[in-house]
Amino acid sequence: MKRLAGKSALITGAARGIGLAFAKAYIAEGARVAIADIDEAAARNAARELGANAIGVRMDVADQASIEAAVAEVERAFGGIDILVNNAALFTAAPIAEITRADYDRVFAVNVAGTLFPLQAVARGMVARGKGGKVINMASQAGRRGEALVAVYCASKAAVISLTQSAGLNLISHGINVNAIAPGVVDGEHWDGVDALFARYENRPVGEKKRIVGAAVPFGRMGRPEDLTGMAVFLASEEANYIVAQTYNVDGGNWMS
Ligand SMILES: NC(=O)c1ccc[n+]([C@@H]2O[C@H](COP(=O)([O-])OP(=O)(O)OC[C@H]3O[C@@H](n4cnc5c(N)ncnc54)[C@H](O)[C@@H]3O)[C@@H](O)[C@H]2O)c1
Repeated sequence: MKRLAGKSALITGAARGIGLAFAKAYIAEGARVAIADIDEAAARNAARELGANAIGVRMDVADQASIEAAVAEVERAFGGIDILVNNAALFTAAPIAEITRADYDRVFAVNVAGTLFPLQAVARGMVARGKGGKVINMASQAGRRGEALVAVYCASKAAVISLTQSAGLNLISHGINVNAIAPGVVDGEHWDGVDALFARYENRPVGEKKRIVGAAVPFGRMGRPEDLTGMAVFLASEEANYIVAQTYNVDGGNWMS
């Protein structure tokens, strides 16, 4: 028996990276998946490659009209949404003296408002259907503690952990489980961007920061998106019904809490 048979999922920022790996894992477990991304072409291409159980939709998680249109489109296509993964996010880094308000506003609009308002839109539909649901927010080890050059992103991910707690406590009475995953360092385009920013601010050759953080992971290497799919499937499944408002570290041992 597949663990997500008959379920439908919406994953934000799923055109690539971790979200795309989750989409593949959910489909393998029997779900239908909407790949929602601001990069509409990439979302539709990814959905085509994944086959009949995937659809691609345009969704800018920082834009309320776009959130509502995308959620309505997926609800129409699937007859309702059982699982939401709030995965879309932006990374930024700068010393405190160089942080710009524009950068702060954009990161909080995508990472924090872009978690809360898709959650709200999808939860309204879940409550109306009366069948409960699962929401998984992508936090980060960055939300567990500050970093000298990463104040804005770290604060945004701390906010995701806090929203997970409040939304989890508020929505469990409707049978909606809200939990989060806190990855450590996961290789891919996201970390290529992180590496480039550290190369600039720490005056390093490109690629060096990545090598250092990978070597420092207790497991012995950076994570891969596939390292996170077990937790993502579990939290979306009925096995997680009694888990409420938690954030799980899946990080090769980088952080303990
Ligand atoms: N990669 C890591 O090391 C790492 C570590 C900890 C947490 N995370 C978190 O995991 C999640 C996925 O990370 P990833 O490495 O796959 O990132 P990624 O940068 O590879 O992919 C992010 C996706 O989000 C999309 N996106 C960006 N802005 C959007 C918006 N406004 N609306 C809709 N989509 C938008 C992008 O187009 C992209 O497809 C993020 O929440 C990230 O913060 C990643």
